[in-house]
Amino acid sequence: MSAPRYHLTSYGCQMNKLDSELVESRLRQRGYVAAASEAEADVVLLNTCSVRQHAEDRVWSKLGKLRQRKRGEPGLVVGVLGCMAQEHKRYLVSRMPHVDLVVGPSAFGDIDDTVEVARHKNARLAAERDPARTKHEVVGAGVVTVDQGKSGDTIRRDVRVRPHRSQAFVSVMRGCNMPCTYCIVPTTRGDEVSRPIADIVEETQRLCDDGVTEVTLLGQTVNAYGRDLTGQGATLARLLRALHEIPSLRRLAFITSHPNFLGPDLVDAIAELPKVARYLHLPAQSGSNTVLKAMRRGYTVERYFARVEQLLAKAPDVELHSDFIVGYPGETAADFDATVAFLQRVGFAQSYVFKYSPRPGTVAAELADDVPDAEKERRNQVLLVAQEALTVAKNRALVGRTVEVLVEGDSKVDGRFSGRTEHHRLVHFAATDRDLVGRYVPVRVTEALAHSVVGELLPENAAEAGAHDPAETHA
Ligand code: SAH
Ligand code: SF4
Ligand code: F3S
Repeated sequence: MSAPRYHLTSYGCQMNKLDSELVESRLRQRGYVAAASEAEADVVLLNTCSVRQHAEDRVWSKLGKLRQRKRGEPGLVVGVLGCMAQEHKRYLVSRMPHVDLVVGPSAFGDIDDTVEVARHKNARLAAERDPARTKHEVVGAGVVTVDQGKSGDTIRRDVRVRPHRSQAFVSVMRGCNMPCTYCIVPTTRGDEVSRPIADIVEETQRLCDDGVTEVTLLGQTVNAYGRDLTGQGATLARLLRALHEIPSLRRLAFITSHPNFLGPDLVDAIAELPKVARYLHLPAQSGSNTVLKAMRRGYTVERYFARVEQLLAKAPDVELHSDFIVGYPGETAADFDATVAFLQRVGFAQSYVFKYSPRPGTVAAELADDVPDAEKERRNQVLLVAQEALTVAKNRALVGRTVEVLVEGDSKVDGRFSGRTEHHRLVHFAATDRDLVGRYVPVRVTEALAHSVVGELLPENAAEAGAHDPAETHA
């Protein structure tokens, strides 16, 4: 019998994508192969997200299509993994008979066993199916579900499923203990659990031995890392210092930081460690104290700004990235104007803007979703335009300068490659040599676009100057 073919789609955040990588690695270790397309797969897995309604809608619609497909293909295995599996387990199990397995994000450690059980159940049911009694309910009887089990963090990464040869994500903590009123993540991902420093160092060392040079540490509140590991003195600052020792590691980033945990030890680590990326993803969510309080974010605009000033006093070349939610219940036009002013005052290099989406079961879902959708859309556009002006200005300031780019691969435009700077800025440049992928090269910026810059590749020997060149600094 030929090897079973799987197809897996990620619908969520970076952590969700990393989970997909771990799930795929485990399936391959079990002898599964990647199907060339979803239509050719024997096992179709959806790694899902619940953070906004839109993310869920995409999956519900996909599941509708898979229901059709399964009518003609009763042996097909359909699995819902991740945050929606956790959030909608009961509904999926009782109302969606074409779903064979439902696995929450903290139970990927044995995903291969779970898929095997579901597959053999289906094979047996398909064989038992009596063609004379086509109404016989056979498919979907007994869904395999696991929601609390081993996390996938211990799964050894398969090089073939890593999206980039030189870059990797490493999960340092799972879950979230914050009380943000609008957010579903603490429900779907559970309580904070940090991994011991030694485990993270070991995994990172192994990735570096496999050719990785840029590592991004992942956690929902990554700078609160370690607070559940009582008595071990584990903090993000300590972890960064430990990882910094790995000789072949060149860049070390971490997402996402919470403003409440940006303490002096972390500021010092960012300022002192040359391998640490020069951007900080520090979502503000709003620039209005009334809204921040309603969201229970635990800081004021003034406190956020003071923390940023402390950071920039020691590490002036760090750029800030943010997330904002517009149209939170009760957000007035004046609250929103304060958000625009705040964004401009901090001068973020990049922001994601989201329209508030009520999540059932959260505190905010009890409040009237009283900002009309057209107004949310307007605020969304206004904030994006304000952010774009800041981004373009920063990009323009780079024209004529040389930046060091880690080459990621083909750009969307033919004959161009793209990569990122230590500020996480996307750079496109003309080149044909595939060997450049995974290398650090000097590029002189020639043009500023809204979300990226274009430049020309310089001879490689200029790279040495590029490595710690303060050229790409923004005081
Ligand atoms: N842990 C991270 C991000 C979590 S989710 C943090 O605390 O910043 C990513 C982003 O989605 C959030 O920063 C927030 O801006 C947005 N988000 C979360 N819940 C949302 C909701 N109900 N509606 C709209 N956007 C939401
Ligand atoms: Fe959600 Fe807040 Fe936790 Fe971020 S910190 S994941 S927004 S609850
Ligand atoms: Fe979505 Fe779950 Fe990530 S809800 S944002 S996939 S943690």
